[in-house]
Amino acid sequence: MTQPKVIVIGNEKGGAGKSTLAIHLATGLLHGGASVSVLDLDIRQQSLGHFFANRRAWLAANNQSAPMPREHVLEAKLAAQPEDIVLARFLSALDEAASSDFILIDTPGADTALSRAAHGKADLIVTPMNDSFVDFDTLGVVDPVTLELKRPSLYSETVWNSRKLRAMESGLSIDWVVLRNRLAPTEARNRRRVDERVQALSRRVGFRIGPGLRDRVIYRELFPFGLTVADLSPSIKPVAMSLQHVAARQELRALMASLNLPLGSAA
Ligand SMILES: Nc1ncnc2c1ncn2[C@@H]1O[C@H](COP(=O)(O)OP(=O)(O)OP(=O)(O)O)[C@@H](O)[C@H]1O
Ligand SMILES: [Mg+2]
Repeated sequence: MTQPKVIVIGNEKGGAGKSTLAIHLATGLLHGGASVSVLDLDIRQQSLGHFFANRRAWLAANNQSAPMPREHVLEAKLAAQPEDIVLARFLSALDEAASSDFILIDTPGADTALSRAAHGKADLIVTPMNDSFVDFDTLGVVDPVTLELKRPSLYSETVWNSRKLRAMESGLSIDWVVLRNRLAPTEARNRRRVDERVQALSRRVGFRIGPGLRDRVIYRELFPFGLTVADLSPSIKPVAMSLQHVAARQELRALMASLNLPLGSAA
């Protein structure tokens, strides 16, 4: 049996769009015909768990069907357990997921032992970041006067250490893609500056830059239904269709393509 591809969505910065990206990648992969296991390491927040619970409820109430992932739940009570027990549960969840094509892991916006362990198991790390120097700060330090990149910072070091760990454990490398999220059409000057620093950092610490996602209502308004734009169809349309949906679908398609995921032609 081939090994599943492990995708970790990570960024120590809270609110960068990790869970939003996770649900869009999960539904994109499912509609691409893949079997997907999902793990939510944000044990307290459980955004993914809530999303898929909403999905089940909405589909049942509306007599519709849509592809579902396999969920491997790390129960809330684990949060009070010692680190070794939590890590053992994580490893057993990975074993349970071993027959899926993809294991998609959402991580909390903080540096936890669990999050670090997951990064060390990744084939691919996808990092969304808001289009701002506040968010850039967890990836790299810029000079306050010249805005030149001075050095990589916290989260880049986490990924660096994960790469070392993965290379030592299995001789495998980790592909890392950083993408800008919630892009606003009106911020050309700020964007150009952030762009330049992201490019400099990408050369320095070795990540690829993925196509960004605009700030769009459609990326958040379908959450209560457990749906994403990938699910919308003539029979599944809890909100009225618009050009925004078409544009969002194109954006997501470009993002999926840039991740080089081993999906069949259905994607
Ligand atoms: N591209 C986008 N367009 C519109 N809203 C977005 C977009 N990306 C994220 N959001 C919204 O921004 C907020 C934060 O996103 P999300 O919860 O996905 O971030 P996170 O990185 O998972 O946060 P945390 O670190 O707390 O887990 C949410 O309200 C989400 O709906
Ligand atoms: Mg989250």
